[in-house]
Amino acid sequence: MAELALTARGVQMEYRERHTTDRLLAIENVDLDVEEGSFVSLLGPSGCGKSTFLKIVNGLLLATAGEIKVRRAAANGPENAMVFQDAALFPWYSVIDNVAYGLICGGVPRGEARRRAGPYIELVGLKGFAEKYPYQLSGGMQQRANLARALAVDPPILLMDEPFAALDAQTRELMQAELLRIWNAARKTVLFVTHQIDEAVYLSDRVVVMAARPGRIIADVRIGLPRPRKLEVKRTPEFAAYEDRIWGLIQHPRPTSVAATTA
Ligand SMILES: Nc1ncnc2c1ncn2[C@@H]1O[C@H](COP(=O)(O)OP(=O)(O)O)[C@@H](O)[C@H]1O
Ligand SMILES: [Mg+2]
Repeated sequence: MAELALTARGVQMEYRERHTTDRLLAIENVDLDVEEGSFVSLLGPSGCGKSTFLKIVNGLLLATAGEIKVRRAAANGPENAMVFQDAALFPWYSVIDNVAYGLICGGVPRGEARRRAGPYIELVGLKGFAEKYPYQLSGGMQQRANLARALAVDPPILLMDEPFAALDAQTRELMQAELLRIWNAARKTVLFVTHQIDEAVYLSDRVVVMAARPGRIIADVRIGLPRPRKLEVKRTPEFAAYEDRIWGLIQHPRPTSVAATTA
């Protein structure tokens, strides 16, 4: 049994308006275990609380109820690194300085940080672009740089919030395959947010399906497709069967707040 990188129990987030009495229950009673080294996707429609949950895991938000445990290798190890939908690179820094930035924030001297950034730039396929600036890169390349920056701080869990949503369909597919290659090389635990069924099935060991109002987990589907996975796997009947099943779960969520299903 693999160690758990993340344990969430009864996590709830209620947003409160500062100047009125308005409250919004964004997520309710979320229980989730993520095994060390696994790739888990949170899949659900816009507004079901995916980003909220990721921000709670990252410590950017404090849950209004429940408990989150993240297993850190070192007591004062890095926070979880988040890769957002829009590549949030500093426009005034080159690729290598963007990637080194998180390390510098963690107290690593600049020269050493730049030296350590190099292999990550290579890993994400940006060799030769280290001294370029974000505006000189395509959208896909910016997301590669963003990913290198997240990996460089060696976070216990890599949190990715719809990182490919702004890319065109072909670039997105290429980046999905690249992400699996990088995940395999870096051996990171990944918690990946998406609203696209095919993206979740292709990437994941498990697809955790969420529903909205309030945001909650309605199913947990283990994806048994063999790895390594080429993009061609998307054209197989096994892949289509997973997509159909998950699509059905989203169309007809069970009335109970948690209905775990396994393959
Ligand atoms: N800072 C906030 N204050 C108030 N409501 C918020 C805030 N952030 C998100 N929400 C609401 O919480 C719900 C979940 O949002 P979010 O986590 O962004 O969903 P998702 O990422 O799945 O689209 C939505 O109804 C959204 O409007
Ligand atoms: Mg979101």
